[in-house]
Amino acid sequence: MHIVLGITGGIAAYKAPLLVRLFKKAGADVYCATTSHALEFVTPLTLETVSGNKVYSELFATQNDHTTEHISLKDWADAVVVAPATANCIGKFANGIADDALSTLLVSCSRKPVFLCPAMNSDMWQCDAVQNNITKLTEMGVNFIGPASGELACGAEGIGRMVEPEEIFRTVWTALTKPQDLKGKHAIVTAGPTYEKIDAVRFIGNYSSGKMGFALAEELADRGAEVDLITGPTSLKTDRTNINRIDIESAQEMYEAATGLFPKADIAILCAAVADYRPAQKADIKLKKQGDSGMTLELVQTPDILATLGKMKQENQTLVGFALETNNELEHAKLKLKKKNLDFIVLNSLQDPGAGFQTSTNKITIIDRDEKVKAFELKSKQEVAKDIVDHLKMGK
Ligand code: CTP
Repeated sequence: MHIVLGITGGIAAYKAPLLVRLFKKAGADVYCATTSHALEFVTPLTLETVSGNKVYSELFATQNDHTTEHISLKDWADAVVVAPATANCIGKFANGIADDALSTLLVSCSRKPVFLCPAMNSDMWQCDAVQNNITKLTEMGVNFIGPASGELACGAEGIGRMVEPEEIFRTVWTALTKPQDLKGKHAIVTAGPTYEKIDAVRFIGNYSSGKMGFALAEELADRGAEVDLITGPTSLKTDRTNINRIDIESAQEMYEAATGLFPKADIAILCAAVADYRPAQKADIKLKKQGDSGMTLELVQTPDILATLGKMKQENQTLVGFALETNNELEHAKLKLKKKNLDFIVLNSLQDPGAGFQTSTNKITIIDRDEKVKAFELKSKQEVAKDIVDHLKMGK
């Protein structure tokens, strides 16, 4: 893989050598092309040492170097990544301005995969002119990674930080090595357990870890989709910039988030272990023991999110559900598929060792609307997520 790393004059340029290292470690060959301002923050010697290649920062060849390699790099490159990308660099690219080595390379590379990682002050990022340039470049097919929010070099807090090198590397690498067959699609995934409050300190919950739902959200995102991940309480983290994480606690909150987002979605995969019942009353204080007698908790049903989306579903939407069963698995799963109006259902049997809650593996069976059954081997939840998304693509 041939990567050209463009570096412009922002403080985050000091992280560029780390990014070079990550690409090199993955087996890529890297050339750095910088603006003259970038060299105020990072030296050519550092970049040459980590990349093992000459650094391009001059537009014109010197007496001893009669080449136009910054232009020939455009043929060599499989992708161009600019990190950090200043407002100036973005503005020049959006308007076809080529007045230095990097901007010339960018303008000549606009048909290759280009990834810009903006870094600037929040006010600059929010400036209409900058946003118009971003829109223009996005319409041209240029990819943006970030910016992230947090502490900025100027001391303020806000949006504008460059995304960390590990995340930039992973996003670019995935985009170049995975099929981007879901680009332009919007997906919803529900994940994890729900907690149904009893009182100030207690709830009804379940053992779901959220791993399967997170793996699905990441697979969809890595294949180019914009994903809303609606998750119950879990310790899991995800760093994909195209995953919008919505943390909820109860089934009712998950229902509101999912039904609100579904009309805009192309795909919804409901993987959460939603509580079917919640306490009829919840106390805001901690309930006290009542003498020596037992206690009866009155429960009422929670809304069935999947069944509701099944009723809302339009022709162009794909809806996938899960069924966790312990007995008569196929029969129960087929009934759920029909009752909830799904495109297909993913069956987990708790009879299968390594399947179900908390584990890092899963063994699934996919059942289609025409009752075609496809059983899979025990695999990691990441591989299972790939199988599910492949199946989804096959059906469309
Ligand atoms: N589900 C949901 N909302 C609920 C209950 C379940 O969206 N209130 C979804 C789950 O996310 C899963 C599917 O429905 O995709 C099936 O969940 P499961 O617990 O297997 O089945 P239930 O429909 O709850 O039926 P039962 O408990 O009777 O097996």
